[in-house]
Amino acid sequence: MLIPIEKVLSKDEVAEFRQRLDAAPWQDGLHTAGTLARSVKRNLQLEDGSPLAVELGNRILRRLGETPAFISAALLLRIYPPKFNRYADGGTYGVHVDSALMQVPGTQVTVRSDLSATLFLAGPDEYDGGELQIEGPFGIQSVKLEAGDMVLYPSSSLHRVSPVTRGARVASFFWIQSMVQGEPERTLLYDLDQSIQALTAAGTDEAELMRLSGVYHNLLRRWAAT
Ligand code: NI
Repeated sequence: MLIPIEKVLSKDEVAEFRQRLDAAPWQDGLHTAGTLARSVKRNLQLEDGSPLAVELGNRILRRLGETPAFISAALLLRIYPPKFNRYADGGTYGVHVDSALMQVPGTQVTVRSDLSATLFLAGPDEYDGGELQIEGPFGIQSVKLEAGDMVLYPSSSLHRVSPVTRGARVASFFWIQSMVQGEPERTLLYDLDQSIQALTAAGTDEAELMRLSGVYHNLLRRWAAT
């Protein structure tokens, strides 16, 4: 399931991110492409571990920790530090699947990619093309969100970024290892939690809500690995 999460960053934060990213030195994305991806990847990336990437990445991580929809959807165990990319002048990333296991640079930590995340840092009016196209059970879904919004999607899915024919598409992207590895279980927990939150806000009968909440936690207990 694709899960869009709105307003992870405010308009002001996006503007500040962009001011600094637009002035940053970008590298050819081929530096970090695997053997297979080399033939289909044409974009620019910010150098991993550069002070700017680390600072902005940490700010994104802090914000995610305060975003209930992300917490509920990801059930985060480990996260690969946010990276940044830029597509312009026909830049594209052809159909591919993300690597299953990724070692966090400078550490011994390996992240299994269960979920892939794209946080849009350019608005849809700033560029043509650049849709994130994800193949799922219901066909190809095309994603192009407002600046500051993010989408989570299964890392197991085939996906691509269509060529950018005008302007520049700037984004942050990263991977998440979830406590709940299975996509169907994770989706079920997310749906259940969303309903519990909505019923709580609506002031539903407390005893029933407690029982429903118990079901959520008992499923989580069954399915989560930490
Ligand atoms: Ni990818």
